[in-house]
Amino acid sequence: MDMRNHDLKEDIREYWSKRSQTFDLAFGHRIPPGPELDAWAAAMRDALGARPLKVLELACGTGEVTNVLLSLGHEVTALDFSEAMLAVARRKHAGNDRVRFILADAERTMEPDETYDAVVCRHLVWTLTEPEQAFAEWFRLLKPGGRLLVFDGDWSKPTPLGRLASIAVAALEQIIGHDPHYDGAMSERHATIMERLPFGDGLTVERLLPLIEEAGFENIELPSRRPIAAAQRRNADLRNRLRTFFYRRFFLVCSRPSG
Ligand SMILES: C[S@@+](CC[C@H](N)C(=O)[O-])C[C@H]1O[C@@H](n2cnc3c(N)ncnc32)[C@H](O)[C@@H]1O
Repeated sequence: MDMRNHDLKEDIREYWSKRSQTFDLAFGHRIPPGPELDAWAAAMRDALGARPLKVLELACGTGEVTNVLLSLGHEVTALDFSEAMLAVARRKHAGNDRVRFILADAERTMEPDETYDAVVCRHLVWTLTEPEQAFAEWFRLLKPGGRLLVFDGDWSKPTPLGRLASIAVAALEQIIGHDPHYDGAMSERHATIMERLPFGDGLTVERLLPLIEEAGFENIELPSRRPIAAAQRRNADLRNRLRTFFYRRFFLVCSRPSG
């Protein structure tokens, strides 16, 4: 398909809107109570401390990370540019007065300067259309000393171990059948978007670090994601356990200088 006349951001929004009703069924998206929620909560508590904060969650999707933040007592503004995704998140958190949902672009939020103690996003950075603009925006929104937490990965190609795991999954699926909800399910649409994204050929820590530093962030850390992956594996079937090895993922924490 010739996509030259399509606006990239519109295509991204449409892609996620179409996935909103089944997003939570795809492995790795939902964070169920128990070991997984505990592992995510521990990672965020370690990065943010125990005190309740004013947090901006970017690209909240169906509100799974929102749930982790709320479980830690934070006051959350959760943002997404897909009304369909937000509708799912709103339903999930109906009646919770510590969360406010807004329809906005994460790259140009229109939120006031120096408003938040923390900005958090999972699986957004790889799909940014203007990363430099986005990081400058997130710096602007943080109070001095505020923290940015980025959970993401390189979805452009599997790791060497991931390639073996994907061969094993393909063999397994000959027997047990295809998973209609897995991320590859809309892979043709996904591919036409990927090829136009700045990080379409891979989002790695090595590519991200200079951009984060240029935006003015400091104290950059890369805490281990292993406890999260281990918790995911505990309740997963064989196919999904193998999937946790496909891609290189990372967790990056940094802060806006305090003064
Ligand atoms: C892979 S999903 C991740 C959802 C959620 N963060 C999670 O981890 O469960 C990507 C989400 O990013 C949203 N998104 C992508 N680009 C965005 C942008 N520029 N502004 C706001 N939301 C965006 C999509 O609508 C979608 O809900």
